[in-house]
Amino acid sequence: MTATEATGLAEPGLEAHFDEVIAAEQRIEPRDWMPDAYRATLIRQIAQHAHSEIIGMQPEGNWLTRAPSLRRKAILLAKAQDEAGHGLYLYAAAETLGIDRAELTEKLISGRQKYSSIFNYPTLTFADVGVIGWLVDGAAICNQVPLCRCSYGPYARAMVRICKEESFHQRQGYELLITLMRGTDAQRRMVQDAVDRWWWPSLMMFGPSDGDSPNTARSMAWRIKRHTNDELRQRFVDMTVPQAEHLGVTLPDPALSWNEARGSWDFGEPDWSELKQVIKGQGPCNEQRVERRRAAHEDGAWVREAALAYARKRRSEGGADHD
Ligand code: 3HC
Repeated sequence: MTATEATGLAEPGLEAHFDEVIAAEQRIEPRDWMPDAYRATLIRQIAQHAHSEIIGMQPEGNWLTRAPSLRRKAILLAKAQDEAGHGLYLYAAAETLGIDRAELTEKLISGRQKYSSIFNYPTLTFADVGVIGWLVDGAAICNQVPLCRCSYGPYARAMVRICKEESFHQRQGYELLITLMRGTDAQRRMVQDAVDRWWWPSLMMFGPSDGDSPNTARSMAWRIKRHTNDELRQRFVDMTVPQAEHLGVTLPDPALSWNEARGSWDFGEPDWSELKQVIKGQGPCNEQRVERRRAAHEDGAWVREAALAYARKRRSEGGADHD
């Protein structure tokens, strides 16, 4: 390790080179010099993102045993497996920054790292599965497509694959909702009820408004984030309103109206105090989500131990780690 790496202070020229790479829209790779704060910001964001994918399996997982048909069950299983895969790509991207996945998991289950607020709400009916696909994955796509152009190579590359799968998730949610909307009055009411419960939390996924977002300016200067939270939220609303009309559901916001001058939709203010509470751990399901994650981690200890013992044995026998 060089003195620069140890202290985080740039040798002459290194910081200038880093700035030039960012300005030229090129990628920073794991072996490149980077400021400590850039590394810390990436670890924070990528870890939160990975944790969200893993915790995000729980709300929909709740319906795996009660899916209304074999087809719906197979789709939902595949989606939950995709989320697990996204978590893995993202933990792997975080590891290139010099942090261990076990440490990140420990930080999640001890409450020292965050995950997305959206996964702290309950899934009360099967329509929630459709609405999560449509709104939550829809919001995730708006937020994450620009991350494919993030300045840090491993994160940007992971996002390309993740976004392709998220688009598929959104389509399956919308298709499920269209099917329900063509069904009975009770099914249509179920969809509307789910939309009423998930709309505002979906808007909150984009984070606090720009004036209250301490990290945005620096993350944008480093080209980690490409747009502010409010810009992405607006993009999501503009994308979603026509889809809601096509579906035949009402978005629960009396302030929603077309702004001719701006060429986009005006909408109401999310309840920021609710977002703060949920982020602080006081949402409807925070405790349950983290507790389940902790239990799954502890229950899986023997699998990790067995895999490690097997890898050690193979190495001592001179074999490949995998063949
Ligand atoms: N839930 C929980 N915490 C949130 C949050 C939310 N919806 N929005 C913001 N926060 C936290 C931030 O992490 C930050 O806390 P920290 O400084 O302790 O880390 C604080 O609130 C202030 O917010 P900022 O806007 O200043 O923070 P960021 O610049 O990091 O922006 C973000 C927040 C927009 C969520 C950004 O981190 C981001 O784009 N992350 C990558 C995408 C991501 O993690 N998405 C989560 C959903 S995952 C998902 O969608 C899975 C899919 O399968 C559906």
